[in-house]
Amino acid sequence: FRAISSMPEPCRSSPISDGDSCDFDWDSLGFGLMPTDYMYIMKCAINESFERGQISRYGNIELSPSAGVLNYGQGLFEGLKAYRKDDGGVLLFRPHENALRMRAGADRMCMPSPTVEQFVDAVKQTTIANRRWVPPPGKGSLYIRPLLIGTGPILGLAPSPEYTFLVFASPVRNYFKEGSAPLNLYVENEFDRASRGGTGGVKSISNYAPVLKAITRAKSRGFSDVLYLDSVNKRDVEEVSSCNIFIVKGNVISTPATHGTILPGVTRKSIIDIARDRGYEVEERAINVEEVLDAREVFCTGTAVGVAPVGSITCMDRRIEYQTGAETTCQELYSTLVGIQTGTIEDKMGWTVEI
Ligand code: COI
Repeated sequence: FRAISSMPEPCRSSPISDGDSCDFDWDSLGFGLMPTDYMYIMKCAINESFERGQISRYGNIELSPSAGVLNYGQGLFEGLKAYRKDDGGVLLFRPHENALRMRAGADRMCMPSPTVEQFVDAVKQTTIANRRWVPPPGKGSLYIRPLLIGTGPILGLAPSPEYTFLVFASPVRNYFKEGSAPLNLYVENEFDRASRGGTGGVKSISNYAPVLKAITRAKSRGFSDVLYLDSVNKRDVEEVSSCNIFIVKGNVISTPATHGTILPGVTRKSIIDIARDRGYEVEERAINVEEVLDAREVFCTGTAVGVAPVGSITCMDRRIEYQTGAETTCQELYSTLVGIQTGTIEDKMGWTVEI
């Protein structure tokens, strides 16, 4: 395995303006990949520890055709963001949480994992190396994508003999083509996202390709994304393909409890804490789809998605609409979270890491 360093000069898509941010049309950003200058790579053999990671130029990597990740999907990913402050500084949001989640996932997927310190250090180094790609305030964020993959060659079904931890980054703005407009979700009846005893509760790469069929079908019918039900009874809501879900009724905010089939999102966890701090009652429990249809507000949370209002949910032939807009709980929680992430609201919880 080796990184192929054949990339052109840094900030190649446009001239450099002031050395700290690219002279780039930030308004053109969506959630497409915009390759940045550097990535971080660290390797280890099975039963050994990761060491000697380093930053290298962003570029393609070379893999054995028999790499564990290619043949048996032995891999995890993470997602976190760096935000530009008004004074030009850069804040990472809760990188330790992603490090802990990767360690939990690595255990489930039979992989060695970087320590929390190694993970956070790699994320910091990647962000610093690509600092000019952190968009100006209000124009998006730098999405950081750590990967942990089995890169050693293997033929029989077994853990890979070698692993690679890699971190790359891309500036992003809105995840959905709707921008910040409310989402229209479709309740999926045929396909499941996760099942009991599976890997739905960790960020395994193998959780994501199986939902592409449902997403593609829903998008072709004009929906933004798919809301999955529990695979046993097809009764309780679980999560959306790319994010967690919350419902609001009165002063009570509810979200499905994470019992192994739902990803424990870092944004989910943060919104729960912010909502409680602001006086809401927050419940983590099973939520029957009928209750969702009966809610006043519904919103989604995720690192890529942020906090996104849901305008409608279609279940079978029923289309239910929800309250959205300026005076909503969703908007209140979103503004508070973004304020903390970008340094305009005091970070009482100690969630941000300045680099
Ligand atoms: C994230 O929110 O960071 C994710 O990993 C979701 C992914 C589908 C973009």
